[in-house]
Amino acid sequence: MFITFEGSDGSGKSTQAELLARSLRRAGLEVIETREPGGSPRAEAIRELLLSGKAAPFGAFAETMLFNAARADHLRATIRPALARSAIVICDRFADSTRAYQGVLGKIGDDLLAAAEAAVVGDTAPDLTIILDLPADVTVERLRARREAGGEMSDKFEEEALAHHEALRHAFLDIAARAPARCVVLSAQTSVEELAQAILRLVEERLGTDRGRSVPRPSRSSDARPRRRR
Ligand code: TYD
Repeated sequence: MFITFEGSDGSGKSTQAELLARSLRRAGLEVIETREPGGSPRAEAIRELLLSGKAAPFGAFAETMLFNAARADHLRATIRPALARSAIVICDRFADSTRAYQGVLGKIGDDLLAAAEAAVVGDTAPDLTIILDLPADVTVERLRARREAGGEMSDKFEEEALAHHEALRHAFLDIAARAPARCVVLSAQTSVEELAQAILRLVEERLGTDRGRSVPRPSRSSDARPRRRR
């Protein structure tokens, strides 16, 4: 099973991906946690190029191709081998992020994005995509708080403009509306534990009831700490 997490920056995707992986592992399942851009050594090198802004001078088209080049290697080196041995793959961002970010921020046309996605992803589309949804003003506030707390720099794709986050939010909601069998939109304004339980229930349903029943609930402990992977 291939599960992806999508949504705005600061929506808690990484934390939820990690909690889900932990719950499924406790149930004895093999889980591969991965992320985009990145997820394989070559794709991680491209990540550095993209998030540092070094690729920016080449323009939005080139960035779109780089996200796709990274994805092609990630699929080849990490995702497809894991799925082939029946592991569960949990990926923090995937092709929907290209549709949303490069579509909205880079103004890359849908036809081009769809063609690149078809060529790179092919049959390896996610079985389930969890979109964590946040109003744009909450996103802006969370990003500001996160930076102030951690002294972190925002990456190139995390500008603070409200209109930018509003457009990204609608891009993800639009993707969900077009692919209702694959995508589930959940509010990222509920508590970390509640959200983790809702996500686990969804995954249990998709895995099939018998197997799902054996998956224990996440503990209400300090598991909930957000983690940034830079
Ligand atoms: P990351 O630090 O992983 O941020 P987040 O915690 O929000 O996932 O940085 C990934 C950034 O790259 C994020 O701002 C979104 C952007 N991105 C794209 O623009 N296109 C893509 O295809 C992907 C996968 C990510």
